Amino acid sequence: MSFFKNVEQVPGDPILGLTDAFRADPRPTKVNLGVGIYYDEEGRIPVMGAVQQVERALAERSPARGYLPIDGMPDYRTATRELLFGADSPVISEGRASTSQTIGGSGALRAGAELLRHALPFARIAISTPSWENHRAVFPAAGFEVIDYTYFDDAAHGLDFDGMLADLGKLEAGTVVLLHACCHNPTGADLTANQWDQVIALMHERNLVPFVDMAYQGFDQGIDEDAIAIRKLAASPIRNFLVANSFSKSFSLYGERVGALTVVSDSAEESGRVQSQVKRLIRANYSSPSFHGAALVAGVLNDGGLRRQWEDELGGWRTRIHALREGLVERLAAHGATGFDFIRHQAGMFSYSGLSRAQVDRLREEFGIYAVGTGRICVAGLNRENLDYVAEAIAKVA
Ligand code: LMR
Repeated sequence: MSFFKNVEQVPGDPILGLTDAFRADPRPTKVNLGVGIYYDEEGRIPVMGAVQQVERALAERSPARGYLPIDGMPDYRTATRELLFGADSPVISEGRASTSQTIGGSGALRAGAELLRHALPFARIAISTPSWENHRAVFPAAGFEVIDYTYFDDAAHGLDFDGMLADLGKLEAGTVVLLHACCHNPTGADLTANQWDQVIALMHERNLVPFVDMAYQGFDQGIDEDAIAIRKLAASPIRNFLVANSFSKSFSLYGERVGALTVVSDSAEESGRVQSQVKRLIRANYSSPSFHGAALVAGVLNDGGLRRQWEDELGGWRTRIHALREGLVERLAAHGATGFDFIRHQAGMFSYSGLSRAQVDRLREEFGIYAVGTGRICVAGLNRENLDYVAEAIAKVA
């Protein structure tokens, strides 16, 4: 007799499950364009120079590993907040932003979701169509009902801004709206500064609660440029919003699980109460966060020289991704696949290629090229070696 006899098998994760299948694929020409990871020209996940230096210094010092505070390492929390809002932001000087170290960006989304369920038990959450697959897992797992808002125009391969405004304009007051700060996952279609102004004005007018997810800061235009949505929200009359951010990509520290939840409150006093709730939620979930990844990020961000080195390296990645986009469009055209020009203009790691699920299946089965079923491909998985092979394969299935 088993208590688990009725437990159902669920399909593998639409993104991380692809990596499992990729690992099991024996073909030497296989290419993983599924998961959002930045690979270098040699196809390796780079360890950043500045991170290596902090890591060596840490190994030398071998600091004691007592428990971190429930909401994480103080230096890490301060540096993260300044990276998000800018060091001179009034929400920081007014004591309105409380930051907690979390287990990656997903941990931040989950902690934020639980806080919102506590503060606004009847609220629903609106998520863009499409969005990162895990958004639609994290929020229901925390008890949220998810509603969709229009975001993308498939035919035009770009943002459907009118559709987005129309849908946001219909939401009930108190609805939480999940927004991607930059490098929208999966579409790579971002809002302009002016469009952010309009969305923020609408959210203020309709009393909506912004929850911004920023997993790719520095991957499109720059560290500050990519934080424009957060900076604009901080300067707006909206008094409450949340930010989940991740250093997985921008520090190439995926497996270290380094992220943060920042909650902006109406006053320093309110912020203290909110933070006490976040700490309660974290304590009941995983007690307190882990040391190593946060020590690496804080070590880089709090040292002027290392920080500049990090910014330069990240800037190089950004430039390389733009070049890979150009290269892909050019190679596709050379193989007779025109009409992919839009890839040049998408932001961040991903290209929403417009390939159908059947075409994605053919890429995997016939060529060992792994992409997400929605047609999302990770441009940062391309390099000089595989670019032409991938372009030729896409041209064959498209
Ligand atoms: C992705 O979208 O590929 C990444 O954020 C990895 C993940 O956890 O899904």
